Amino acid sequence: MRRIAVLGSTGSIGTSTLRVVEAFPGRFRVAAIAGGTNVDLLEEQARRFRPERVAVADPAGAAELRRRLRGACAVEGGPDALVAAALHEGVDLVVCAVVGAAGLCSTWAAVDAGRDVALANKESLVVGGALLTARAGETGARILPVDSEHNALHQCLRGERAEEVRRLWLTASGGPFRSLSLEALSRVTPEEALRHPTWRMGPKITIDSATLMNKGLEVIEARWLFSLPPERIRVVIHPGSVVHSMVEMVDGSFKAQLGIADMRHPIQYALTWPERWESPLPPFDPVAAGPIAFEAPDPERFPCLDLAYRALEKGGAAPAALNAANEVAVGAFLAGKARFLEIPALVRDALDRFGDGPAATIEDVLSADARARDGAAKALRLGARA
Ligand SMILES: NC(=O)c1ccc[n+]([C@@H]2O[C@H](COP(=O)([O-])OP(=O)(O)OC[C@H]3O[C@@H](n4cnc5c(N)ncnc54)[C@H](OP(=O)(O)O)[C@@H]3O)[C@@H](O)[C@H]2O)c1
Repeated sequence: MRRIAVLGSTGSIGTSTLRVVEAFPGRFRVAAIAGGTNVDLLEEQARRFRPERVAVADPAGAAELRRRLRGACAVEGGPDALVAAALHEGVDLVVCAVVGAAGLCSTWAAVDAGRDVALANKESLVVGGALLTARAGETGARILPVDSEHNALHQCLRGERAEEVRRLWLTASGGPFRSLSLEALSRVTPEEALRHPTWRMGPKITIDSATLMNKGLEVIEARWLFSLPPERIRVVIHPGSVVHSMVEMVDGSFKAQLGIADMRHPIQYALTWPERWESPLPPFDPVAAGPIAFEAPDPERFPCLDLAYRALEKGGAAPAALNAANEVAVGAFLAGKARFLEIPALVRDALDRFGDGPAATIEDVLSADARARDGAAKALRLGARA
């Protein structure tokens, strides 16, 4: 019986994780769950999975949930509660599926304690990748990627020698606006951006997919997960989302991982690794999948990808600044307070103004995050974007 903690249990990845758990009765014990504000769903999950601990980011939500659950399990509120859920007694694997840099401290706590992590929260690695991977090396914590592209790379790299790998190729669907002109992009609405052609995901990552920032964040994530420099990590647009990513070997061979676009696949892989268990999902049908096409990303219309490469090359606090400004900009776009093309403009501005600090400690990156967040919010209020 694997004891797991699911951080972000109320989100898209969190609920898919619990569906994977339910597909294997008696194989997992959900010892702790954590969410942000969705008290109704946390209550339902607590009654169904009977965890020993529930964390709610919102303290008022925690009080309400405590009242509803009447002592059935420990309920705690606030950011410390999320960390406590990551450190809950006897947990073998922590599923980190909180969205945004808000997930960093709990991911850090799990890694610092030597716990294995199934990592969906890519922003943790974007903001604190050098620190997290170095600490994992010291504590023995293993970071298993849930992100479908990195999960695919992890699978392709099984049994391969690092020196025989030439490059990693991340595939990107291109999002809903792949073929729109710059002029048309200036007018897109949040509703249109939320209509992702191939994946059903939470709102923030769906917007990141539309701007291609998601792929930029994934380049940074891959740099830390697989210890390769940015020039050996490439991105290719693949609208079908059938090839989840590829590894190019030094002899010119490519290895790819293919499958249906359902996050329960990579989640199950991370939860059962190093084993593989029979999947209850419908099998992938290569004939039904149809032709496989690739194209190059367009840096003019989707500048976020290059901004992420720039942040990675700059190093230090730059990725934290990039990520923080992006979170602010995406939040504003979703709220109807920023236009789509203002997202890269705000990120570029934050990178220039707040990307130069150090990132030697978690405190450093948290303070870079706070500075860039504040700066991006002010820039938005002033309306001084491109
Ligand atoms: N969805 C996908 O298919 C997918 C694929 C690859 C990678 N990812 C990555 O996985 C992560 C989660 O994405 P998602 O799509 O599942 O997002 P989502 O549906 O928006 O869910 C986010 C989760 O985080 C919780 N949360 C937000 N702020 C929190 C805080 N301060 N403290 C504690 N919990 C907090 C939310 O709680 P409430 O809802 O209760 O407020 C919710 O459970 C992201 O980093 C994303 O990039 C997602």
